[in-house]
Amino acid sequence: MSTWANLGLQDSASPLMEQLIFFHDHALLILVMITVLVGYLMFMLFFNSYINRFLLHGQLIEMIWTILPAIILLFIAFPSLRLLYLLDEINEPSVTLKSIGHQWYWSYEYSDFNDIEFDSYMIPTNELENDGFRLLDVDNRIVLPMNSQIRILVTAADVIHSWTIPALGVKVDGTPGRLNQTNFFMNRPGLFYGQCSEICGANHSFMPIVIESVPVNYFIKWISKNMN
Ligand code: CUA
Repeated sequence: MSTWANLGLQDSASPLMEQLIFFHDHALLILVMITVLVGYLMFMLFFNSYINRFLLHGQLIEMIWTILPAIILLFIAFPSLRLLYLLDEINEPSVTLKSIGHQWYWSYEYSDFNDIEFDSYMIPTNELENDGFRLLDVDNRIVLPMNSQIRILVTAADVIHSWTIPALGVKVDGTPGRLNQTNFFMNRPGLFYGQCSEICGANHSFMPIVIESVPVNYFIKWISKNMN
């Protein structure tokens, strides 16, 4: 999760988030190189005294400074497309979780198993335990197995919400009347926090998401305990 003064991306807990961080760093590096070059050229313009009264056109240089940026953009476009299609790949999931956005809480359904569905509300500040995270902890956590491919189906019952977990690289809109799909793979145990990221109304900031990533045998225990 994010902590004080953490302005960058969170540490990744999934292979796809790792790829997203690599792509971010790659794009940022290209951005820095362009900014430095253009900044240098603009700065130097103030100090040179190159004058040519007969200069009306320069077709070669215009050709170069048109095509060169287009080629540089390809170095961002192709990795970006690669990642886009990689994020869309579903990879035979072993568990499916359905999350439904409401004003203002999430409800979850484990459709692979009988009768497992519950609501997940944020814990209000005045009811928080001493070790709880304010505006981030919920009363009922999602429990999911680590080292397994997981599919999530996201929808909403009233307005648009967005199911977002930064450490896993997941961000899917829940839209009434539509069922969106994505997937992730958690490569370590722990708690992963997220928040709604579509402006969905007065309590938009107060419908967080918590995933409890556990070993597979723990998950099976949890499922059989809750299946009645
Ligand atoms: Cu739900 Cu913002």
